[in-house]
Amino acid sequence: MRPRRTVTRILTVCAGLAALSACIVYASTELRLRRSYRVPASGLQVPADPEAIVRGQRLVHVVAQCTNCHGADLAGQLLGDDPWIGRLAAPNLTRGRGGVGSLSDERLVRSIRYGVGRDGRPLVMMPAQYLRNLSDGDLGAIIAYLRSLPPIDRELPPRRVGPLSRLAFFLGRVPDVVPAETLADASPPPPAPEPAISVGYGRYLVDTAGCRVCHRQDLRGGLHPLAIPGEPPPPDLTGAGPLGTWSERDFVHTLRTGITPEGRALDEAYMPWRRTGRMSDSELGAIWRYLRSLGPRRTDGARS
Ligand code: HEC
Ligand code: HEC
Repeated sequence: MRPRRTVTRILTVCAGLAALSACIVYASTELRLRRSYRVPASGLQVPADPEAIVRGQRLVHVVAQCTNCHGADLAGQLLGDDPWIGRLAAPNLTRGRGGVGSLSDERLVRSIRYGVGRDGRPLVMMPAQYLRNLSDGDLGAIIAYLRSLPPIDRELPPRRVGPLSRLAFFLGRVPDVVPAETLADASPPPPAPEPAISVGYGRYLVDTAGCRVCHRQDLRGGLHPLAIPGEPPPPDLTGAGPLGTWSERDFVHTLRTGITPEGRALDEAYMPWRRTGRMSDSELGAIWRYLRSLGPRRTDGARS
């Protein structure tokens, strides 16, 4: 009888400890997700002229690719729903029912620059840490375009953070999923460089075109928190990766055709090459110069 009683006692203690840890993880992550943030007003002026709307359309669809998460019609979509991981939708950006398109300019700016939602709470997986680099002119044009979208009614289910995600968040394993935590007190980014075939402008495009969302902050690749099930790990884009032996022509050709110089077809479901490939020669040239500036070029089999 004795050993059995001891086992029961150990199991009870373990169950108690597990419940306590679960409570700690839940309470601490819930506090972080419910924190209310105040961020400075931007005073950004949203233009209303037709040229700005056309520029905004190109930025939304080709450069910043809000469509990757908010859906091709920008009326929002469910990004994932799993009992363990959680449920997350990128909301409807139009003025229709369930949309955020009728929020004030300042509120939209707050979401895009600081990752702070309409209720002052932090947004999850909205890549404000990169989008905050958008210049006033580009962000103004993006908002002008969002305002011009036809209203679409689409209501999406509320966010639910599942236990596995809470644990990863608690352990600090998913940096940047709640950008407001670091952005609320961050100083504003340096002024955006003028468009040119330059390293500086290439960096601006890499920041604002979401390359870092998938290829990771340092562009060294590997699986990222927003990976779609089945997604191959995005490759290293620095000179240490496959691009180390490419020429600029190879790079532009890959992003325009989806075929790498090694003859591999990129899967459009994961790498949005068709949209990225609509960038101009100068834009892709600037991105190429920036990527080249990141690391040594590989010498094995290097092309000219
Ligand atoms: C990597 C995916 C992703 C990309 C790219 C992205 N978003 Fe989001 N966005 C999200 C998610 C997810 C949410 C909802 C987060 C939540 O509910 O916690 C969100 C929320 C928002 C909100 C909500 C504000 C609120 O108050 O509720 C706005 C506005 C927004 N995004 C605009 C944009 C714009 C404009 C772009 C392009 C410049 C963009 N997003 C690009 C994922 C993305
Ligand atoms: C939504 C996620 C996502 C975004 C955004 C994204 N990529 Fe990718 N990228 C991937 C994935 C995944 C692959 C691997 C695809 C495959 O193997 O089919 C890839 C592959 C590539 C490749 C091919 C490299 C090789 O040798 O296989 C290049 C080049 C590339 N991306 C550049 C970029 C650049 C530049 C940007 C920003 C303008 C960007 N990507 C934005 C996910 C992304």
